[in-house]
Amino acid sequence: MKKTMIALALLTAGLAQAATTVKIDTAKPGPVINKDVYGQFAEHLGTGIYGGMWVGPQSKIPNTRGWRNDVIGALKKLHVPLVRWPGGCFADEYHWREGIGPRNKRPVKINTTWGGVDENNAVGTHEFFDLVEQLGADAYVNGNLGTGSPQEMAEWLEYMTSDNKSTLPELRRKNGRDKPFKVAYFAVGNEAWGCGGNMKPEYYTNLYRQSVTFLKTPAGARPKMVASGGNDNDTSWTEELSKSAKNMTDGISFHYYTIPTGKWEVKGAATGFPDNEWFSTLHATLRMEDHIRNNVKVLDKNDPEKKLGFYVDEWGTWYDVEKGTNAGFLYQQNTLRDAVVAALNFNIFHDHADRVRMTNIAQMVNVLQAMVLTDNEKMLLTPTYHAYEMYVPFQGATTLPLSLEGNRKYSSGDKSIPQVSASAARGKDGKIYVALVNTNPGEAEEVNIDGVGAGKASARVLTANAMDAHNTFAKPDAVKPAPIAVQSSGGKLTVKMPAKSVVVVAVGD
Ligand code: AHR
Repeated sequence: MKKTMIALALLTAGLAQAATTVKIDTAKPGPVINKDVYGQFAEHLGTGIYGGMWVGPQSKIPNTRGWRNDVIGALKKLHVPLVRWPGGCFADEYHWREGIGPRNKRPVKINTTWGGVDENNAVGTHEFFDLVEQLGADAYVNGNLGTGSPQEMAEWLEYMTSDNKSTLPELRRKNGRDKPFKVAYFAVGNEAWGCGGNMKPEYYTNLYRQSVTFLKTPAGARPKMVASGGNDNDTSWTEELSKSAKNMTDGISFHYYTIPTGKWEVKGAATGFPDNEWFSTLHATLRMEDHIRNNVKVLDKNDPEKKLGFYVDEWGTWYDVEKGTNAGFLYQQNTLRDAVVAALNFNIFHDHADRVRMTNIAQMVNVLQAMVLTDNEKMLLTPTYHAYEMYVPFQGATTLPLSLEGNRKYSSGDKSIPQVSASAARGKDGKIYVALVNTNPGEAEEVNIDGVGAGKASARVLTANAMDAHNTFAKPDAVKPAPIAVQSSGGKLTVKMPAKSVVVVAVGD
């Protein structure tokens, strides 16, 4: 009774600090986090490629063969493992032959999906591979099923991957590339349920089977074949594809976007949003867990051998576009909230590392939840960029199981989410990395880390005073990671997490 009264008194005085304990079991390592989980997406959309990354070799903006040095330099620090291109919806209207040969002879088309602007095809196959090679990334090429054909996709693959003396690889050589390009993933269409052709799962699955039959590559050069799957709550695509195309695909893709209001018509603003949209955004993003779980259940039934990967090849926040910008360009600011969203999703992907073997955030530059924003020659790194950078050690790391004790709920109205999200893994450098997210914008949280010893540890935190704190061209470093203390006592490590923060702790020499 006396103890309860003292505790109550301390609480009232604000002195008692609630704590969450993360218990990590280093003796039972789990699956490896495929580096491709940290893949990115670059579509011919708005200034995502043109202006944001590609300025052309004649530009005054410093570039290497047309690709901006500042942007590429920044992205290299993220060790981007994989880039998906050319779409998205754009992929199902893209004809690869229009993007090869002398740039001034390439046809100018209308980008009918994104803003109705001219697409001069300056970035085509060779330029894309130059981009990924400059980044040190792998290529994920999305084929055109919607307005293309199995023949067009097969010939594109031959052009890219063959070392023969046949006409297509010879054309590639004439266009400046002797050795074949390495295609790590190849998808047959995109969002076949929508912009990719408004198909039904059964119909798409038949077309997928037909197409893949003709997608031939030299031995050793075969990309992972991606069947375009469902989105949101819909598991019917995973069901049909894993039943009827299991032996013809390496993975099934899935798309899920986080929308603060849950309504496509009025999605919510990227900045200056009301407090309740901090909560609703995080609540919505955590539904990724249910979506993966539901699809994995289907996969486990139809593919118990775990042959198939579940590729979340589009995800991220989608807000109302910034005022005064082309609505078809999907340009949005990026705040601390986006960094928290990114980290929550990383932790979910790690939890499903056995199936979730590849993801691509939408998108890389100037579009949706971007890493980088540009304004002519200016560039800034977004809070999402910093989350990716902090999580680099998780690429290729081995997951370590953990449990959370004393984790409180952060509530709004009748809904709640866990206050702390955590993930742990042993990095390729032997250190243990623990990623923590405090979702609560109003309360700090003391987090004890148990099971990794109390040796040498260091940590960085990403946080800010305002929920919508963001970087601008005038103040590009307003939100960036900073060191945070890790205390060591009684065989445990302790971090005092500020409200609304992401922390990554590195344990070991
Ligand atoms: O990322 C923007 C668009 O969202 C993609 O083109 C499409 O696949 C999805 O609907």
